Amino acid sequence: MRIHITDAGAITMLEPANFRGLDILIDPQPEDRLTRQIARIGRREGDGHIRIAPGVLRFLSPLAGDPGWDAGFDAMIAHAVRAGWVDDAGAVRAHVTWSDPPAAIDPDDFRRTLRRLAAGVCAVTTGTPANPAGLVASSVVSISAEPPLIGVFVNGASSALPMILQNGLFAANVLGCRHSDIVRDFMTQPQGSRRFGDADWQAGALDLPVLASALAVMECRIVTTETLGTHRLLVGRIVQTATREYQPMVHFNGVTRRLEGEAA
Ligand SMILES: Cc1cc2nc3c(=O)[nH]c(=O)nc-3n(C[C@H](O)[C@H](O)[C@H](O)COP(=O)(O)O)c2cc1C
Repeated sequence: MRIHITDAGAITMLEPANFRGLDILIDPQPEDRLTRQIARIGRREGDGHIRIAPGVLRFLSPLAGDPGWDAGFDAMIAHAVRAGWVDDAGAVRAHVTWSDPPAAIDPDDFRRTLRRLAAGVCAVTTGTPANPAGLVASSVVSISAEPPLIGVFVNGASSALPMILQNGLFAANVLGCRHSDIVRDFMTQPQGSRRFGDADWQAGALDLPVLASALAVMECRIVTTETLGTHRLLVGRIVQTATREYQPMVHFNGVTRRLEGEAA
C-alpha cells in the first residue's frame, strides 16, 4: 500500500489491498506545507522515512472494515513487527518515495479552458438574515441523492469562508435570469447587510438567509471539507429544498447570461 501526499493538499491511500510493501509517495511542494502534511499522518524520521501509526493507515484505507482487508492488514503489521520496523509506540516505518514534478499547466491556460464550461450560478450564504455572509459561486455540484449531498469549492481567500466553516451550515441559492443585481452586490459590497441589499432574503429552515425568488434553494449542514489547491471543498447534506420554474442564470466564457434556445 502506498500513501500519496499530493501537492493538491489531499492525502490518499493508493493500492490499499497490496500488503507486500508500504511507502509514502510525496509530490514536490513547499517545505512548510510538506511539514504540515506529514504532521497530519505521522512524523519524519530523517529524509527517507516517516513513522505512521496503524490506526492512521486504517483511517486512510477505503477498504478498512472489510474482513479480507482487515486480515491482510493485520498480517502485514505482524510481519513489520517481526522485521523490526515497528517502534515501541506501535508506529510503522515507511519508506519515502519522491514523485516526479507533474507536467505544468499554465494558470492562464487553465482559466481559458475552464471558461468553456457553462455552469449555473449560486449565491452561497451563511449566518442569519440579521448577520448574513456569502459569495457568488458557479462551482456548486450535485454529489449524491442518497444521502442527499452537494459540494461547493470556495477560495481560501473568500471573506465568507471563515463564517461558513464556523457556522457549519450553508445555503446554495440557485440564481435565475432576474438576479444580476445580486451578483453585482455580492461582487462589490462588503459582507453583511450591504452585500445582501434589498433582495427578497428571508430566514430558511436552518435560519440561514435564503432567497425567496431563487430558482432552487438547498439548505445544508457541512459533513466534510477538504483543502484542494487554493480552494476548500465543502460537502453539505441537504436538509431543506425549495424550487421554482423560470429561466436560470448561466455563467459561460466569463459572463453571466440567460439560457437561450431549445433543448440540444
Ligand atoms: C459567476 C461567478 C462565479 C464564481 N464562482 C466562485 C466559486 O465557485 N468559488 C469561489 O470561491 N469564488 C467564486 N467566485 C468569486 C467569488 O464570488 C468572490 O469573488 C470571492 O468570494 C472573493 O470575494 P469576497 O471575499 O468579497 O466574497 C465567482 C464569481 C462569479 C462572478
